[in-house]
Amino acid sequence: MADKVAIVTGGGQGIGEGIALRLAQDGYAVVVNGRTQSKLDAVVEKIVAAGGEATAFVGDVQDRQVNFDMVQKALDEYGRLDTFVANAGIDWVDTVEDTPEQAVDDVFNINLKSQVWALQAAPAAMRKNGEAGGTIILASSIAGMEGFEMLGIYSATKFAARGLTQAAAKELAVDNIRVNAYNPGIVLTPMWDEIDQRFADRKNVPVGSTRQAFIDGILLGRGEEPEDVAKLVSFLVSDQADYITGQSIAVDGGIKFH
Ligand SMILES: NC(=O)c1ccc[n+]([C@@H]2O[C@H](COP(=O)([O-])OP(=O)(O)OC[C@H]3O[C@@H](n4cnc5c(N)ncnc54)[C@H](O)[C@@H]3O)[C@@H](O)[C@H]2O)c1
Repeated sequence: MADKVAIVTGGGQGIGEGIALRLAQDGYAVVVNGRTQSKLDAVVEKIVAAGGEATAFVGDVQDRQVNFDMVQKALDEYGRLDTFVANAGIDWVDTVEDTPEQAVDDVFNINLKSQVWALQAAPAAMRKNGEAGGTIILASSIAGMEGFEMLGIYSATKFAARGLTQAAAKELAVDNIRVNAYNPGIVLTPMWDEIDQRFADRKNVPVGSTRQAFIDGILLGRGEEPEDVAKLVSFLVSDQADYITGQSIAVDGGIKFH
């Protein structure tokens, strides 16, 4: 039985992979969720090769039951659940006016409903920890602090993540379950490759130019790496943050200031 156990959704690449690797390094046994077995296996292999413990869990987080099954997997495999990082998400780049209904549904289901399901699935398992409680972390974004042009539907889900964080923190504090969110900036993951490509297609600008324009506006002068987000998550789930709940915290190198 592991001492500390975390679930990370969307952990096969990008920010989720960075968080899974970091939490494993911090001593967590990690259930790594995503949609593609081979990608999850590769992350699990990296964790095990570094001396950690992890298991892959293929499943679509839009499906409420998948979230409950992941929690059960953590309990069956490792005996407890301390942390649930609801990281999985997708983007959609278009004007609000032109976004098709299916895309609105997909972005809301994957980004937002999955976070509701995480907040429904995790608390019962965390209450079994008694006073130790647990931590739930939601993925928001700087696009959840200000609506971004061509990312309106995405931004709406990321604003919603902050509302959920606040409400759930109020409801779960009694059980010492802390709920917080991270708001990354321009993270150099496959998601930003896609966003940049879609801007290029829709706005007829060179590939790479949109990402570069955003990076040029970062005070600390570089694009963000998944490890930058993982460092914040590592802190938020630790006892060092045991007096922090209901917050969504920008980790963006200096882009947004409210
Ligand atoms: N990249 C950025 O600049 C940035 C900035 C702010 C916030 N975020 C948020 O951080 C999170 C991770 O972003 P990323 O850049 O690593 O994205 P990414 O596209 O590189 O990786 C996302 C992962 O989530 C998985 N995923 C997508 N839909 C899923 C589903 N239905 N079920 C299970 N897994 C699913 C994908 O397979 C992928 O492995 C997202 O919520 C995103 O909105 C990203």
